[in-house]
Amino acid sequence: MPKHYLIANWKMNRPPEGADQFVEKVRAAAPDPATTVVIAPPFPFIAQVAASLRGSPVRIGGQSCSTESRGALTGEVSAAMLRDCGATCVLVGHSERRTLFGETNEIVARKLTAVAEASLVPVLCVGESADIRDRGEVVQFLHEQIASAAGSLGDSDEIVLAYEPIWAIGTGRNATPSMIAATVGPIREAVRASWPERMASNLSILYGGSVTPENIDSLWSTGAIDGFLVGGASLDSGRFLSILDGMRDRRVQAGTGS
Ligand code: PGA
Repeated sequence: MPKHYLIANWKMNRPPEGADQFVEKVRAAAPDPATTVVIAPPFPFIAQVAASLRGSPVRIGGQSCSTESRGALTGEVSAAMLRDCGATCVLVGHSERRTLFGETNEIVARKLTAVAEASLVPVLCVGESADIRDRGEVVQFLHEQIASAAGSLGDSDEIVLAYEPIWAIGTGRNATPSMIAATVGPIREAVRASWPERMASNLSILYGGSVTPENIDSLWSTGAIDGFLVGGASLDSGRFLSILDGMRDRRVQAGTGS
């Protein structure tokens, strides 16, 4: 059974209330054993956030990592360094990395190998631009992103995939539930076609792109996804925790867990 996740991607931001205050509120909130909560702060805060969360089930994630394990690579951070600072997972191939920093499918694949070698859980981000959607090429595009990752996933049992349409990120325009349902089906097929069977059956697929406490009911109602990757709304502990509450409430209503 795929696990449920809620991931906060702070990007290059600090929560206005302060990182310590944010973490304290998340730590103090009622735990939801059915959802793995992850906070992905900018690199310099990882160790601090990890120290504040010691003993809590909330996990720490990196937002990216180097393709390499060491070397003269000014400004880069290796997956093992993230792990040593307390991270247990890493976002790989976020569309901001792909579009603003030139990360190709090949670079993403090398990063996935680095993440597997450091025994971290990869959160592979895929998603199409508005142009690709308008041209009706979403399925083929996502298939390429997914297939190109196939040989780089190591032997991990825990792999997370985040479907994040680029046109929905930070725009206030989320994908509709029917779009999500119609896209996640082909994503699962692409995974089954190109990844080892064991990974395909455990794979959690998250949605990201303008997720808020106000729209998670309809997004979650598709039944197609296993959680959310949240940017803007993850910078406020109250809004982030109300997404977590919404996931729990929906599950209770559906009779599928606590
Ligand atoms: P957003 O960002 O929630 O601000 O749209 C999501 C993401 O980029 O992961």
